Amino acid sequence: MKAVLCTAFGLPDSLRVAETPPPKIESTDVLIQVRACGVNFPDVLIIQNKYQIKPPLPFSPGGEVSGEIVAVGEKVKQLKIGDRVVALSGWGGFAEQVAVNVNRVFPIPPGMDFINASCTLYTYGTSYHALKDRANLKAGETLLVLGAAGGVGLAAVELGKVMGAKVIAAASSQDKLTVCREKGADYLIDYSKEDLKTRIKEITNEKGVDVVYDPVGGALSEAALRSMAWKGRYLTVGFASGVIPQFPANLPLLKGCSIVGVFWGSFAEREPQQSLQNFGALLAWITAGKIKQHIDKIYSLEEAPAALQDLMDRKVKGKAVIKVGTWTEVPTEVLTPRVANANNETSARAPKPLVLNLKDIKKHIGQSLAVSDWFTVSQEMINDFAKATHDYQWIHVDTEKAKEQMPDGKTIAHGYLTMSLASKFFFELLALKGVTTSINYGLNKARFPAVVKSGSRIRMSGRIMNVEDMPGGVKLFLECKIEVEGEEKPAYVGELITALY
Ligand SMILES: NC(=O)c1ccc[n+]([C@@H]2O[C@H](COP(=O)([O-])OP(=O)(O)OC[C@H]3O[C@@H](n4cnc5c(N)ncnc54)[C@H](OP(=O)(O)O)[C@@H]3O)[C@@H](O)[C@H]2O)c1
Repeated sequence: MKAVLCTAFGLPDSLRVAETPPPKIESTDVLIQVRACGVNFPDVLIIQNKYQIKPPLPFSPGGEVSGEIVAVGEKVKQLKIGDRVVALSGWGGFAEQVAVNVNRVFPIPPGMDFINASCTLYTYGTSYHALKDRANLKAGETLLVLGAAGGVGLAAVELGKVMGAKVIAAASSQDKLTVCREKGADYLIDYSKEDLKTRIKEITNEKGVDVVYDPVGGALSEAALRSMAWKGRYLTVGFASGVIPQFPANLPLLKGCSIVGVFWGSFAEREPQQSLQNFGALLAWITAGKIKQHIDKIYSLEEAPAALQDLMDRKVKGKAVIKVGTWTEVPTEVLTPRVANANNETSARAPKPLVLNLKDIKKHIGQSLAVSDWFTVSQEMINDFAKATHDYQWIHVDTEKAKEQMPDGKTIAHGYLTMSLASKFFFELLALKGVTTSINYGLNKARFPAVVKSGSRIRMSGRIMNVEDMPGGVKLFLECKIEVEGEEKPAYVGELITALY
């Protein structure tokens, strides 16, 4: 395979594109055919042996990839060949294939393309953790972002706005600040021309800023710390300038403020549940269109050294992405519940959907849904399901043999096909207001008392069993019963658990 190789530590121009053997996978790894790789600051550090992770030479940089799984280790159960995924590879992503431990690989949400997927986790993950978990940023507070047009900086600007803060974006050129303005920044400071401390005093009427987000370090840092409000939080995120600031200890004393460290990678490893919950909230904002990555330029694999050099030369606004190979992508459909309009009407044909507001949904625990329309399970659907799952048992797909061997000459649908139709019926029976996205979260107590023969009709009834709070939304437990026309026993009974944001 083709890979960008670091054979000796040095600057980007020392990297070479070379043919290498494809990576071997361990039992808990997946092998990813890389479609795109985000370019992040650690990539420029790792090739110079200046990063905390030090892979043995030769290696490819590239810590955040998107692509398709082409092989899985024998212990991997939750992902399979063909899945579209995003992965925090650490390194190895500037290549056609990379092996990553399954714990660091996540499915790409429906509706997100490979380019965006390859540069989303790292920047938004870092900045959301910093602002929410480390600074406890509150609506109405003032947030100063240094290096505001960089990868993590621009994410902090957007997230600060979504979280209700007043955002001051500070960067080194008007060009960069224009992008910050587009992302919602309220005030702009060009620190190549303006004095940071003086401008903050003017903007905040001498009060100072409540939170500083600092991924840059160097001379700007002390000026920012001196501009803090009482009980402010100063976030140490990174040192893109190459200079680690040395603060006089009297400054936090005088300001009654805290200097707070941010280490997202360590947080994600030590607090995986919290990190996943953060991803859930970010995903909801992405799906709702509240945050969207700014992609400055897409480079080819051969141009990867130039992409790293542009990052070092402070030329990149938002994200640079390496596109690996030539491919075009068919966008996937986003599945969301139907949303009712102001008159509680929905456009689809489903019978009498229950129209609910997400904020009131708890009041409806125990309430039954209507019965869906009949739906015919065709042989074509059964064949498609077999193709998708590689389950070609003859009782499902061999119509000729079924004519000879089955009592009524018909094939039967896979039980899991019937079960997976529960979410289709669910969206017909329930229309939700105030929901931007929903994710099927799990199934419980699934049973298949009767079979579904090819060509027969099925329908679903349901009941809201429970609603539990979760960060950014709720978990809805829905009792489902799928009946087959003319049959006494149901074809499927179970609980569908759906996360609503
Ligand atoms: N703590 C964590 O968990 C964590 C997570 C992710 C990233 N980081 C760190 O955060 C920093 C920024 O990462 P990033 O991916 O956002 O990088 P980036 O996209 O390159 O942004 C860095 C910004 O820093 C400013 N800068 C000032 N002096 C610079 C210099 N000498 N070279 C390059 N940039 C300089 C630039 O803005 P101006 O030109 O406007 O000054 C640039 O836009 C890095 O140090 C990275 O390691 C930390």
